[in-house]
Amino acid sequence: MTPRQRLYINIDHVATIRQARRGHEPVPADAVPLCEQAGADGITAHLREDRRHMQDSDILAVVARVTTVFNLEIAGTAEMIALAERLRPHQVTLVPERREEVTTEGGLDVSADPTTLAANIRRLRVAGIRTSLFIDATRESTTRSRDLGADAVEFHTGRYAHAPADPSTLDALRSNAALGRSLGLAVHAGHGLTTDNVGAVAAIPEIEELNIGHHVVSRAVFVGLERAVRELRAAMDGARAAL
Ligand code: PXP
Repeated sequence: MTPRQRLYINIDHVATIRQARRGHEPVPADAVPLCEQAGADGITAHLREDRRHMQDSDILAVVARVTTVFNLEIAGTAEMIALAERLRPHQVTLVPERREEVTTEGGLDVSADPTTLAANIRRLRVAGIRTSLFIDATRESTTRSRDLGADAVEFHTGRYAHAPADPSTLDALRSNAALGRSLGLAVHAGHGLTTDNVGAVAAIPEIEELNIGHHVVSRAVFVGLERAVRELRAAMDGARAAL
């Protein structure tokens, strides 16, 4: 039987709503128990260099509330790696960051500065943290991620989410998930996933973890956070059960 896929909920956009008013509500850490009660296996948050949504104090509050596991998304800057060493989350996902982008628009360029990337992965490992690299689902990025010493890769599913009918995007996710697993990497995926499009990704047996944020917070506006998480969980489990 294909093992259950983990669902990590990215709660950044609770902070986005608060930052629209630069006020005090909603509090991102208050989302943690609701997501966990609804079936989330972990909580993800991205501390961006520009602090556009989550603030440092939010991250500390989230860490204090998480009873499952915490996945900290950061760029590989000196400031962020030092923060991860202090906080010691279960997992760090290293992502590319450009100030002008609306969201993380593509995967990490794992060939741009391999020395720094490998050193960051080593530092995190020494601190007892597993590292996942957010990459595009290509053969080269997957193989290089293994060579750099990553524990996991997270495939950017944005291209699939924007063009779900294009079979080449799903083919790339499938073949590189199998490649990643054969190289000894844990394989994750995320970006732009919703209850409507998650099925095909949930049905890729090698993908063991999904990180989903924007859709959950959007849906929560209408049905509440717990129901939004439960709907997603059901869509994933349904696709997995059909394998
Ligand atoms: N995974 C990573 C590495 C991300 O950067 C993001 C976006 O913050 C997500 C998953 C979640 O994407 P979305 O908010 O579109 O579900």
